[in-house]
Amino acid sequence: MINLTNIVKIYNKGKSNECEALHGVNFAVDDGEMVAIIGKSGAGKSTLLHILACIDSYENGEYLLDGQKIKDLSEREYAAIRNEKIGIVMQDFALVEDFSVVENVLLPLSFAKKKNKNRKTIALKCLQEVGMAEIADKPVNKLSGGQKQRVAIARAVANNPNYILADEPTGALDSKTADDIMSLFKKLNAKGKTVIIITHDKSIAQQCGRQIEIFDGKIVD
Ligand SMILES: Nc1ncnc2c1ncn2[C@@H]1O[C@H](COP(=O)(O)OP(=O)(O)OP(=O)(O)O)[C@@H](O)[C@H]1O
Ligand SMILES: [Mg+2]
Repeated sequence: MINLTNIVKIYNKGKSNECEALHGVNFAVDDGEMVAIIGKSGAGKSTLLHILACIDSYENGEYLLDGQKIKDLSEREYAAIRNEKIGIVMQDFALVEDFSVVENVLLPLSFAKKKNKNRKTIALKCLQEVGMAEIADKPVNKLSGGQKQRVAIARAVANNPNYILADEPTGALDSKTADDIMSLFKKLNAKGKTVIIITHDKSIAQQCGRQIEIFDGKIVD
């Protein structure tokens, strides 16, 4: 369960280029929901997602993840939550281009606190789920956009997180590939994962159980 109360995010606080990107966001997501976050460019969608994913901090308000106050955590606890509870899919994939497909999926597994002996088997299983096991040894820089997005999803689910967060996961894809990628997210949601997807695309948003619009740093509905 995600609970945000009055979240304020200020970039470059106290500097001449200070920018308040979120002005008191209230937002809750139940376990097992599939939610779309929509809104214009610059509205604060990525900022919100980075806070949800525990990859960025905030200046004010409270974020409870499964009842745990995120602000109170040490850097180590914060990193552990990010690794174990959250899988994030970035718009630009953020894969290690020189690594092979399977090496990319192995990364979060090797960072995990609980070291698993069957890491390679788990990575290959995740790749199989997204239809990429056959090219596990191919370098990522030889893949198409849709293939990279599949690898990014496999990497996001490698540690079996309860939350899958995706920033414009279909933004760079043709509509057929976008549909295939959405099917993967729906499959994960059907398995009980909480899925949050940022999108500009109405037809993608309509495939989610609920849509939240963010306008100028505030949730409008
Ligand atoms: N690292 C940063 N430093 C300073 N300002 C930032 C930073 N990242 C974002 N901002 C500002 O915060 C506001 C919200 O940006 P954000 O990236 O969250 O928007 P977005 O809704 O994701 O837009 P897009 O659809 O274009 O990705 C914008 O005004 C942006 O300029
Ligand atoms: Mg963005």
